[in-house]
Amino acid sequence: MKFFVDTADVKDIRELNDLGLVDGVTTNPSLILKSGGNILEVTKEICSIVKGPVSAEVTATEYAGMMKEAAVLAKIADNICIKLPLTLEGLKACKALTSDGHKTNVTLCFSANQALLAAKAGATYVSPFIGRLDDIGLNGMDLIGEIRTIFDNFAFETQILAASVRTVNHVKEAALIGADVITAPPATLKALVKHPLTDKGLEAFLADWAKTGQSIA
Ligand code: E4P
Repeated sequence: MKFFVDTADVKDIRELNDLGLVDGVTTNPSLILKSGGNILEVTKEICSIVKGPVSAEVTATEYAGMMKEAAVLAKIADNICIKLPLTLEGLKACKALTSDGHKTNVTLCFSANQALLAAKAGATYVSPFIGRLDDIGLNGMDLIGEIRTIFDNFAFETQILAASVRTVNHVKEAALIGADVITAPPATLKALVKHPLTDKGLEAFLADWAKTGQSIA
């Protein structure tokens, strides 16, 4: 399973990348707003830090505008992945961009049928939003399972990019179901390492080690 970091904060991306935890990055207009930077400059800096795919989202809602914006975004770096909304116009742009050899990420996916359409449009990734479904009382993880079954039934190559990840349990459950990628905020990725027994065990080992009076190096 690949780990993407869901942020446009360059400091966080650099830190996680140095830890070896970043296979790619996802951004969206809200994350660009939060970063306080210019989309082209911020995205360029992210692409210089991370080798894997960096999703940059178009903001036009019609095919022609999406294609125009995609051309600008694609010029930023070779590892740009064009992120498109799950609309008929977005799917049309996805098909055209994929045929032109671009990586694509179809976002704002909330149903298995939408994911099926993204796969048929040749998307590199489809992004089902787990947390936002949970927010309205549905089970986002059920959607990941449905999409996994459908993609396996027909051997679709589109990768399931589990998005809107809010908890460490989301990560574990998406991994158990077989999502290809999760994208999570920096804090959630870092929280994966936490376990009270690890902290307690380390504390005890260090206390006993101090009593030996020895040193290794
Ligand atoms: C990633 O591609 C999505 O834009 C992101 O995961 C959405 O997360 P949110 O629902 O927490 O805003």
